[in-house]
Amino acid sequence: MKALILSGVKGTRLRPITHTSAKQLVPIANKPILFYALEAIAEAKIQEVGVVVGDTKREIQEAVGDGARWGLQVSYIEQQAPLGLAHAVKIAEPFLGNQPFVMYLGDNLVKDGIRSLVEEFMRLRPNSQILLARVRDPQRFGVAELREGRVVSLEEKPAYPKSDLALVGVYMFDKTIFEAVHAIKPSERGELEITDAIQYLIDKGYEVHPHVISGWWKDTGKLEDMLEANRIMLEAITSRVEGEVDEASHLIGKVVVEQGAKIVASTVRGPVIIGKCCRIVNSYIGPFTSIYHDTLVQNSEIEHSIILDRSRITDIGRLEDSLIGKNVEVFRSDGKPRAYRLMLGDSSQVGLV
Ligand code: G1P
Repeated sequence: MKALILSGVKGTRLRPITHTSAKQLVPIANKPILFYALEAIAEAKIQEVGVVVGDTKREIQEAVGDGARWGLQVSYIEQQAPLGLAHAVKIAEPFLGNQPFVMYLGDNLVKDGIRSLVEEFMRLRPNSQILLARVRDPQRFGVAELREGRVVSLEEKPAYPKSDLALVGVYMFDKTIFEAVHAIKPSERGELEITDAIQYLIDKGYEVHPHVISGWWKDTGKLEDMLEANRIMLEAITSRVEGEVDEASHLIGKVVVEQGAKIVASTVRGPVIIGKCCRIVNSYIGPFTSIYHDTLVQNSEIEHSIILDRSRITDIGRLEDSLIGKNVEVFRSDGKPRAYRLMLGDSSQVGLV
């Protein structure tokens, strides 16, 4: 069995972060989202992985390398344009050959992993196994209609969903999927939809086995989803202090302080991760916050947020529910006239009080 990870899509709902970096590399609890997928695949005892990449190819390749870190053999498949998930399957055919495979969308997180699901697929050997999860906003997803435990229809982002069962971004296929991806036509948004390809399998009488998962799953396409994913993953951490914490500081609850980080005269209330070589000075870091490496927080309060590497947050009062990119500076502006002075990238969002 092989695995195909899709990591080409840009992520327009996470601009401006995704103007400059791949959304699959945004860290959740200080680990790139994509690494959770690689771990889940390794844990399912699959070794050969094809990663479909697009514009952010170089960045993804630099982060993942040859996959040896996870005991995987990773190869890269270039998708020239984001023409859809089924298009990615099409171009991966030479890599996948005749083998059954699991397709994993690189921005999805499945908390309990996929090992038992892969085992179920290999035991039952349907032509495809899809994972479904009950959601409150099915119109954002592919939606399945089941009758007596069988899939009767699938619809991509329907205005009037027939159920609350969303397609999770992890699919298992045998080689019949190639017949489907060659037969279907692009959707209204101009993409070859995997949902249409699976519908093709159903229409032709192939077996599509649905598995409704009960564990936590997230498509991390939007800021709120990222923050929720961060919250869930931080809940599972265990305390570890590898950096320095001075006597005037307090760590409360589950807190990770990575190597080279310094906490000075600050209170950190977990679950929180402070990344390598960060400086937290005279500040408060509140629950559900991850700070990636080499960032400075001084005379400020941060809660329920993700801060990426090499940023500087100084003298600002309090920040909540935020995603701050790399090399960002947020500071108090004291000059006259008293005013906000901003330099924001395209599609930035700022909430002022
Ligand atoms: C894709 C699929 C959709 C699925 C979702 C899961 O949507 O097309 O059917 O429910 O992933 O993450 P996209 O995120 O590409 O809009």
